[in-house]
Amino acid sequence: MHSFHYRDGQLYCESADLEALASQYDTPLYVYSSATILDHYRRLDAAMADLDHEICYAIKANSNLAILSLLAKEGCGFDIVSGGELFRVLKAGGTAAKTTFAGVGKTRAEIEYALREGIFSFNVESEGELLQINEVAQSLNVVAPVAIRVNPNVEAGTHKYISTGKKENKFGIDIERIPAVYEAASRLPNLKLRGVQMHIGSQITKADPFGTAVEKMRPLVAALKKDHGIQFFSIGGGLGIVYHGTIESGHEAWWKQEEHPAITIEEYAKSVVPSLKDLGLKILFEPGRLIVGNAGVLLTRIHYIKQAASKKFVIVDAGMNDLIRPALYQGYHEVVPVKEPASKVTEKVDVVGPVCESGDFFAQDRDVPPVNEGSVIALMSAGAYGFTMTSNYNSRPRPAEILVEGDKATVIRKRETFEDLISGETIP
Ligand code: LLP
Repeated sequence: MHSFHYRDGQLYCESADLEALASQYDTPLYVYSSATILDHYRRLDAAMADLDHEICYAIKANSNLAILSLLAKEGCGFDIVSGGELFRVLKAGGTAAKTTFAGVGKTRAEIEYALREGIFSFNVESEGELLQINEVAQSLNVVAPVAIRVNPNVEAGTHKYISTGKKENKFGIDIERIPAVYEAASRLPNLKLRGVQMHIGSQITKADPFGTAVEKMRPLVAALKKDHGIQFFSIGGGLGIVYHGTIESGHEAWWKQEEHPAITIEEYAKSVVPSLKDLGLKILFEPGRLIVGNAGVLLTRIHYIKQAASKKFVIVDAGMNDLIRPALYQGYHEVVPVKEPASKVTEKVDVVGPVCESGDFFAQDRDVPPVNEGSVIALMSAGAYGFTMTSNYNSRPRPAEILVEGDKATVIRKRETFEDLISGETIP
C-alpha cells in the first residue's frame, strides 16, 4: 500500500497536492507519506505476531528525525551502522536499549559511545572487532552485548552491490567458522553473547533466498542457544519493494508496461515464520527499504527539453547528487507527471539532471507521457536510500524534505543554502 494517487487530475500524497507543494517549497523536493510508513511498519509487525519479535528499522534507508520519531512512537527499534546514526536515534526519542549496531568498521569511539548509551547489541563482523569491543568494554568496566553476523553463503538474487550474504562479500563471518568463533568469544570476559545475526542482501524480491537462509541457519542457531545461551536471532532486512507500476489512473496504464512484482509482507512471513517459530528465541527484523521506500517521492521540475540527434532529453532540476540509485545500481524509479496525462500516449526519452556526468540520469530510453518545460514530475519510490545518499557534488545544496500527514505538510528538513555549502570551510 502507498498513499500516492491521482485526484481530479493531480497527483496527491495522502490529501496533499504535490504540484502545490512543489510550488510552495520549490524543487527538487522529497515528500514522504506518514500513513504509508506506519502502514508498512504495522503490517510487518502484524505478520510476525506468531513470533516473539522486534522490528529494528535500518535507519540508513532514511534517517530524518521526523521519520525516526514517528517509528519510535510506534514502539519500533532501530538498526544503526555509525555513531552518527545512534545520535539521530537518541535525538528522535528512540533508545539505545532497542537499537542494534551493525557494520564492518566500527571505531573505538563509536563502540564507547554505544556502550555508554546502553546499546542492545553489537552485530559483530570480525574477530578483530570482538577483541576491540571486549577491550573498550573492559576500559569502561562494563560487559558488552554482542551478536556475531553470520555469512550464510546464500544467493540473494539481487544487484551485486547490495548482495551481502555470499562468501565473496566483506560481511559477516563464514558460517563454517561460527561455532569456533563463539567458543573463542565466550572466553573474552567483557563480552556477553546475546544473539546471532545475518543479512543476505537488499531489494530481494523472492521468498526463496530468505527461506533458504533461515533453514540453513536453524541448526546453528539452535546449537548456539544450547551452548552459549543466546537470546535472539536477527534475520536482517532486505525485503524488496515494487518499483514498477505503482500508480493508477483512469487511463489505460502506460506504467503497466513493465511489471516486476515484489514479494509481499505476507509471503515473506510465510517463508520464514515456520522455521523460526519453535527456536524459542526473540526474532529481530531489520527492514529499511520496506518501511520507507514506497513512502517517498522526489519531485523535480523540468527545465529544458532538448532534442538531440538520436534522443530526446528531459532535463530536470534534480541531479544524481539528489538521488543516486539509477547511477549507482541501475535503480529504476517510475517517472510520473504530477498532472495526470490526458491519454495513454507516450514517447521515448531520457530524463537527466544538471550534473556534469553522463551517469547523471533518472531514466534512459523510457516511455513516458508527453511532458512540458516547467512541469513537475515525481520520481517514485524514492523514500529509501534517496535523501540519505545525497551529496553536495557540483556544489548543489541538498533538497528540502516534507512529511505529509493527511492534508498537513511539514518541512522536516529545510533546503540547504549556498552558505550551508561553505560552512565549516576556511581559507588559510
Ligand atoms: N541490515 C543490514 C545489516 C544491512 O546492511 C541493511 C542494508 C539492512 C539491514 C536494510 O536492508 P533493506 O531492508 O533496506 O534492504 N543503497 C542501496 C541499498 C543498500 C543496503 C545496505 N544494507 C540501494 O539503494 O538499493
